[in-house]
Amino acid sequence: MIVITCTILVLQLSQNILINSFNKPERLKETDDIIALIPNQTTFQRLKKPLLGDPDFTSSLPQLQYTFKPENSTEKSKRESRKQSVKKAFLHAWNGYNNHALGFDEIAPLSNRTKNTFGGWGATLVDSLSTLLVMELNNEFTAALPEVAKIKMVVDQNVSVFETTIRYIGGLLSAYELSGEKALLVKADQFGEMILPAFDTPFGLPYHTWNSAKQKGTNNHTLVADVGTVQLELITLSFHTRKPIYAEKAQKITEFLDSVGYAHGLFIPGLYPSGINLYKGRFTDAVCTFGAMGDSVFEYFLKEHVLLDGSVRQYSRMYIEAIDNMKIHMLQQLPGTSLLFLPPFDTRKKTFKKSMDHLTCFAPGMLAMGATLLDRPEDMIIAKGLLETCVYMYRTSSTGLCPETWLFPATEPYNPLTYSLSDEEMAGSHEWWYNTQLPPPPLKEKFPAKQTDIFPDIFKFNSSSKNTIEGLMATDRRYLLRPETVESLYILYRMTGDTKYQEYGWEIFEAIEKWCKTPSAYASIRNVNILEIYEQNIQDNQLDSMESFLLAETFKYLYLLFSPTDHISLDKFVFNTEAHPFMRRSWA
Ligand SMILES: *[C@@H]1O[C@H](CO)[C@@H](O)[C@H](O)[C@H]1NC(C)=O
Ligand SMILES: *[C@@H]1O[C@H](CO)[C@@H](O)[C@H](O)[C@H]1NC(C)=O
Ligand SMILES: *[C@@H]1O[C@H](CO)[C@@H](O)[C@H](O)[C@H]1NC(C)=O
Ligand SMILES: *[C@@H]1O[C@H](CO)[C@@H](O)[C@H](O)[C@H]1NC(C)=O
Ligand SMILES: *[C@@H]1O[C@H](CO)[C@@H](O)[C@H](O)[C@H]1NC(C)=O
Repeated sequence: MIVITCTILVLQLSQNILINSFNKPERLKETDDIIALIPNQTTFQRLKKPLLGDPDFTSSLPQLQYTFKPENSTEKSKRESRKQSVKKAFLHAWNGYNNHALGFDEIAPLSNRTKNTFGGWGATLVDSLSTLLVMELNNEFTAALPEVAKIKMVVDQNVSVFETTIRYIGGLLSAYELSGEKALLVKADQFGEMILPAFDTPFGLPYHTWNSAKQKGTNNHTLVADVGTVQLELITLSFHTRKPIYAEKAQKITEFLDSVGYAHGLFIPGLYPSGINLYKGRFTDAVCTFGAMGDSVFEYFLKEHVLLDGSVRQYSRMYIEAIDNMKIHMLQQLPGTSLLFLPPFDTRKKTFKKSMDHLTCFAPGMLAMGATLLDRPEDMIIAKGLLETCVYMYRTSSTGLCPETWLFPATEPYNPLTYSLSDEEMAGSHEWWYNTQLPPPPLKEKFPAKQTDIFPDIFKFNSSSKNTIEGLMATDRRYLLRPETVESLYILYRMTGDTKYQEYGWEIFEAIEKWCKTPSAYASIRNVNILEIYEQNIQDNQLDSMESFLLAETFKYLYLLFSPTDHISLDKFVFNTEAHPFMRRSWA
């Protein structure tokens, strides 16, 4: 039990900050602010209609969701039938897990064996709780509660602190907010207490993996995504437990990232490389990425801004710095198309790898939200261009599923002046240099049309021809049931009202049904570009693995894509990186 008063915390923090940040005095106030925000009196009330969010909350930030017109009966029945199909798919996987692997981390969907990959605390069980509530599967949720109560914390295993936070603590807190079940908060607090010692390192950066039985970290190497993706969960945990220690640990990491400079191996402001030596407080490589190992640190800067409803300025400042430099240094365009690519970038050598991974497909959703929240309309255009690339990778594979990584052809740096111009427009654009008779070119509004899609699709719905771009190819051809593209589709649909995002999502769902379904659950697949022969024997293309994020994220985002648009509204909730919705609230 940790008993510590607010005053002592603030004093300790202030000392750290004074040492680290003499050139940025405004930060001191921000850190005081976050501790002061943790309420010491209120208790969380069970809401009458939790899926609609806190009825008393009106954000001080701009509205995120498009103002939808009421749907007619045809539209409604199509949407509802799709929603029911997703729910049925979720239940198929949930029942398989319950029958064969309840209490273990995962079911192996081909052999029906069990796996313990995340501490053996029932990762799929805990990760599914908020989805059960979102899908209004209340009987299944109630039946799962006694299983959650059985979870035993201490294990002699090296368990990822980041995964424990996003899957277990995130899952429990979200389900607590949606159900009001106190036992879930108690469990989340137990997980929190268990990982707290992992943060006792020289700079407050948690160990990558922690052995709670031995009270030891595995080694001193960690990743920026790992340390930068615990803040939403720990701040929310502090809010509900009224124990400021969690928010303090979270904020200390943000302060570290805000304080590092050239001497720590940061070469471009905001473009944090992925590897960190947590003992030395220095980066161990120079590669910044919005894919594996880097991705969600940037997502969380923006989402902390949303969670705290803009009351701490530090997060939006850090987000803007990162995104501005990402656009200058990292983003690539493919001439003559609207496709954009966001590859890993060596910030020291200033070179990029011509590859992108499916994990990066969360970025369109993040950029779209940031565009509206922070008044950056160009980011919405970029969000759409990146999402077109992700969707393109699904639609042009033989299975309709996206490869894990792909190599892209010759691109040029993103330039808002030439982005998405057709070949003809590019070719004709400079004729006036040589022909003084030509009339002046028409003037364009900079970044026009916030709500509508101004770029033509380079491919059309239901086109049977596989439109492939020369040099664009899958490098890791597995599809691991990943959620990032459907996450961005849900966000873009809710923000623009453009039904094409629903159509893309439905195609993806149908492909999952066809290629991934097994008698007991859903399997990852070996090769998204299989030979025709596999049509006869789908199982040969399946892998014996189903990570818990299929239930936590992929099916949840697909379900929400076909739900009434006030169901888990983006203006009432903010999702953690494992798709667990946290309630947005006023903090001031
Ligand atoms: C709770 O917070 C308020 C305002 O932040 C403060 O005035 C009050 O003394 C605090 N109460 C306790 C019990 O800490
Ligand atoms: C419903 O709206 C769609 C357009 O979104 C239209 O095509 C359809 O005819 C309408 N159906 C009815 C029954 O009004
Ligand atoms: C955990 O990591 C340590 C290194 O610190 C290693 O010696 C040990 O074998 C690992 N334990 C397990 C259960 O993997
Ligand atoms: C971290 O590095 C320090 C200094 O090199 C070393 O003393 C310590 O044992 C390392 N910790 C782990 C868990 O490897
Ligand atoms: C797995 O379980 C399902 C029922 O849940 C069953 O149909 C299937 O045959 C089982 N597979 C194996 C390999 O036992």
